[in-house]
Amino acid sequence: MKKSLLDYTLKVRIPLVAFVAIGSFVGTYYLSRAERDGVGYAPEQPILFSHRLHAGTMRIDCKYCHTSVTSSPQATIPPVGTCMNCHTVARKNRPAIIQLTKFYEEGKAVPWKRVHRVPDYAYFNHSAHVNKGIDCVHCHGAVENMEVVAQVSSFTMGACLDCHRTAPERLAAIPGIKRGPENCNACHR
Ligand code: HEC
Ligand code: HEC
Ligand code: HEC
Ligand code: HEC
Ligand code: HEC
Repeated sequence: MKKSLLDYTLKVRIPLVAFVAIGSFVGTYYLSRAERDGVGYAPEQPILFSHRLHAGTMRIDCKYCHTSVTSSPQATIPPVGTCMNCHTVARKNRPAIIQLTKFYEEGKAVPWKRVHRVPDYAYFNHSAHVNKGIDCVHCHGAVENMEVVAQVSSFTMGACLDCHRTAPERLAAIPGIKRGPENCNACHR
């Protein structure tokens, strides 16, 4: 290799390639963070359903729609029929409600995008937490103020264990609250 070419390679090419490689790694790392640990994830929904309006302003109880939080592992998303209890009348001429009514009449489920998800190999149970007095807000934040639901807490293994270890201090307002399990087979069954 000629000296000038070697010089160019050492002084310009290698640093440039390294800069681009590191730069794009750091870039994708931060851009994909929300996708990886979920915090900040707030997908656009097929119908602009507002928790702030329904659960906040109108004060509809969370359990009116998320019916199984106290009886099963899942909280569940309500079927369109639950919405139609009101929307056969309320705002029925608005575009979003016309769209909603169409799903109902065609017997189709609204394709809501899932916000929170724990991988299948880990076991989570709503009723086990909610029935001990741990309210939605401890894990989901103030959903009643959200126009679009966003994930606000991390649900990595470290985050679950962190609350399990510190529950008596962290949840001191709940009388008699115990620590959560830390043995592997409680969550990996
Ligand atoms: C009128 C019915 C209704 C009420 C009342 C309601 N929700 Fe929802 N909830 C929905 C629907 C529909 C979705 C799916 C669309 C969306 O994510 O906005 C949803 C989604 C959610 C999600 C995200 C689920 C996921 O995909 O991970 C959370 C968390 C949630 N609700 C919590 C609450 C809490 C907490 C309350 C009470 C403060 C509440 N909801 C009250 C209907 C309701
Ligand atoms: C208990 C009655 C009730 C239930 C149940 C209910 N809604 Fe509503 N919803 C209302 C009322 C009342 C309004 C109008 C509030 C206002 O504008 O002041 C409204 C407004 C809306 C709007 C805004 C319409 C617009 O453009 O003005 C949408 C979208 C909507 N609801 C979707 C839903 C969906 C989806 C569900 C089921 C998951 C649902 N609602 C369940 C009572 C209800
Ligand atoms: C101890 C933390 C915790 C509490 C308390 C909690 N949730 Fe959740 N929630 C989660 C986790 C974790 C997921 C994801 C579960 C999964 O993927 O299996 C979730 C998922 C959901 C979903 C998506 C559908 C489903 O069933 O998985 C809804 C809706 C929801 N929560 C509503 C609520 C409501 C309403 C309350 C209060 C009555 C509540 N949650 C209390 C942690 C919690
Ligand atoms: C806000 C605090 C908090 C968070 C966050 C939390 N837990 Fe818990 N969890 C508890 C407490 C407290 C208990 C023990 C309740 C009791 O028995 O008194 C518990 C109990 C459990 C149990 C035992 C249930 C049973 O059937 O006895 C499992 C399994 C569990 N948690 C899984 C999880 C997983 C998985 C996550 C994360 C996705 C999680 N928890 C997040 C506080 C939390
Ligand atoms: C309180 C519930 C809980 C307990 C107890 C728990 N885990 Fe987990 N674990 C989870 C959750 C939730 C995930 C999925 C989220 C994540 O990857 O962080 C997970 C993920 C994992 C993974 C996959 C990690 C990865 O990076 O893909 C392994 C391996 C694992 N756990 C092993 C263990 C072992 C070994 C123990 C006992 C020492 C244990 N877990 C105890 C909740 C728990």
